[in-house]
Amino acid sequence: MSTLQVTRALFDEVMVPNYNPQQMVPVRGLGSRVWDQDNNEYIDFAGGIAVNALGHCHPAMVETLKQQADQLWHLSNTFTNEPALRLAKKLTDATFADKVFFCNSGAEANEAAFKLARKFAYDNFGADKNEIIAFYQGFHGRTLFTVSVGGQAKYREGFEPAPGAITHVAYNDLEALKAAISDKTCAVVMEPMQGEGGVIPADAEFARGVRELCDQHNALLVYDEVQTGVGRTGRLYQYMELGVTPDILSTAKALGGGFPIGAMLTTNKVAPSLGFGTHGSTYGGNPLACAVAETVLDIINQPEVLEGVATKRAVFEEELEKINNQYNIFTEVRGRGLLIGAELVPAWHGKAAQFLAAAREHGLLMLVAGPNVIRFAPSLIIPDEDIRAGMAKLGDAIAQVLTAEQSA
Ligand SMILES: Cc1ncc(COP(=O)(O)O)c(C=O)c1O
Repeated sequence: MSTLQVTRALFDEVMVPNYNPQQMVPVRGLGSRVWDQDNNEYIDFAGGIAVNALGHCHPAMVETLKQQADQLWHLSNTFTNEPALRLAKKLTDATFADKVFFCNSGAEANEAAFKLARKFAYDNFGADKNEIIAFYQGFHGRTLFTVSVGGQAKYREGFEPAPGAITHVAYNDLEALKAAISDKTCAVVMEPMQGEGGVIPADAEFARGVRELCDQHNALLVYDEVQTGVGRTGRLYQYMELGVTPDILSTAKALGGGFPIGAMLTTNKVAPSLGFGTHGSTYGGNPLACAVAETVLDIINQPEVLEGVATKRAVFEEELEKINNQYNIFTEVRGRGLLIGAELVPAWHGKAAQFLAAAREHGLLMLVAGPNVIRFAPSLIIPDEDIRAGMAKLGDAIAQVLTAEQSA
């Protein structure tokens, strides 16, 4: 056995400093609970940033992974494999899409989506139709193309020159899009609800208007459902709720429930532009990932699980309202399903991270979405008693922060 002391300090010694993880090191998870090296228990409202949609170590996922581990791990795309084809069939049966491209992450799914949008325009309308319009505060990943389409300048600063022909306009502002779109636009890229940007849902009217403008200008509509997808909002994908069908959709995060996988979905009309040899990924469609994702999809895409999302949201809202009645700390609780954003009152703007730190001390894991919003993205099957227990911890954490502020 190694005698190496695995602590947070080792992170600083051996890891590139692009992350700043918590001091405690988690070692085990089950359902909506996580334990650290000292066996401290945490309730998990963060869900690995909207990934652990079935909680930790769901028995069906564990069983699938073990079975597939004894069967076949990897081939590369010089061969296809049964789990990948079964998963692709289920994804196409369940959505607008006819065709699937598999990859390993959300950024990669978006990279494929953006490349496909450019290539489709190139093939069908010529090289001048190459402009992409996206939205301020949008988030699409951390590759150079995805930070460039993303609407937050801080993620691309210092990495320039960035890919060109990308414009940003205000989200939920149809007039701004109308002014920017033209026949040179090849795609409009949007999250149906901005996640990292502050948990901001698209207005249904705006979403319909975007679709119409795309149609008028022969531009493809790309939905980034990396965070909203796979049941998070109470529908399998959020486009279903909005009643708007995109031409391309990216999905990742919850698709593997914790096993890395991403996918780009599209139609028979658009798919041919990614012809043989145009794009690829060594691990894309990996049998282990696809087998786990098939199990995740089978479980989540059932009425009782999807309907349960609304019921659980109601418990979150009820508990958050109780907290707010006591502390008057949130201006708004928003989002859809189990992607919930609680915006702090102006006096606490810029300080969402303080509440996260206090919650962790009380045994609760949660997220921020920017500096002003506390974000919850728990398991879609989190027991109601875990929601209530977690909210009790949040109440205690808020009391602690407010008391510390008063005595400062
Ligand atoms: C909407 C959206 N798109 C893309 C990504 C990037 O996904 P990944 O980190 O798997 O590359 C994220 C990650 O937070 C996201 O929320």
